Amino acid sequence: MANFDGMTALVTGGSRGIGFAVAKRLIADGAKVALVSTKLEGVVAAASQLGENAKGYACDVSSYDDVQALVAAVLADFGKIDILVNNAGITRDDLLMRMSEEEWDRVLAVNLKGSFNTCKAVMRPMMKARFGRIINISSVVGLCGNPGQTNYAAAKAGLIGFTKSLAREIASRNITVNAVAPGLVETDMSGALPEEARNAFIQQVPLARAGKPEDIAGAVAFLAGPDASYITGHVICVDGGMCMV
Ligand SMILES: NC(=O)c1ccc[n+]([C@@H]2O[C@H](COP(=O)([O-])OP(=O)(O)OC[C@H]3O[C@@H](n4cnc5c(N)ncnc54)[C@H](O)[C@@H]3O)[C@@H](O)[C@H]2O)c1
Repeated sequence: MANFDGMTALVTGGSRGIGFAVAKRLIADGAKVALVSTKLEGVVAAASQLGENAKGYACDVSSYDDVQALVAAVLADFGKIDILVNNAGITRDDLLMRMSEEEWDRVLAVNLKGSFNTCKAVMRPMMKARFGRIINISSVVGLCGNPGQTNYAAAKAGLIGFTKSLAREIASRNITVNAVAPGLVETDMSGALPEEARNAFIQQVPLARAGKPEDIAGAVAFLAGPDASYITGHVICVDGGMCMV
């Protein structure tokens, strides 16, 4: 029996990159997965690649009301949500000197408030079921900082504080809340980095390569699975050894 037989997962930002790899892995391990992205066409196409156990939904995770409606729709379709993976994220990089208020607000709204919105919406049904696995995708940047990413680092560090506090709030209901902090991973997001910045990043990685989305998916599957049932409030860095904290 696969780890996630009979379980449903909601994966935000599931249309590509890390979120898509996570959805693929959870389905391979037996789960049904609701994939969420801002654009319906892309997420439906991604879900169709994953077969009958995947369904795509359009939702901007930064909108409280839209996330409430999303979770209601997923519960209507699947009956329950056992696993929530808060993976949707964006960057709007700039030195603070040049960063606009819009760049700051948008990155915080998607990367941090998005997780507040989804957790608020799934908490009640998870508490009622006395089971839940919440995995927040942070970043090593939230632990170590990075010039040009004050907004992103603040959001990802905030997500770690959020993870630890929520873990303490709902542990008694058998809901674990953990974070994964990826280093540099080959996706569209990291593809936007200039070659020079990318090479500088890789020079700091003891394993001397960028990660693959599947490397992150493995850590998420571990935290969602039975071998991690006694782990909550933790951050696993999946970064080739870049940020040893
Ligand atoms: N790629 C990396 O090197 C790296 C490193 C550390 C952390 N991360 C984090 O991993 C996560 C996934 O990153 P990725 O590299 O796969 O990015 P990506 O840009 O390839 O994919 C991001 C996904 O999030 C979705 N998304 C964006 N804004 C959204 C919104 N408002 N509402 C719903 N969905 C939204 C996109 O549609 C897409 O599906 C992000 O949280 C990112 O910050 C990535």
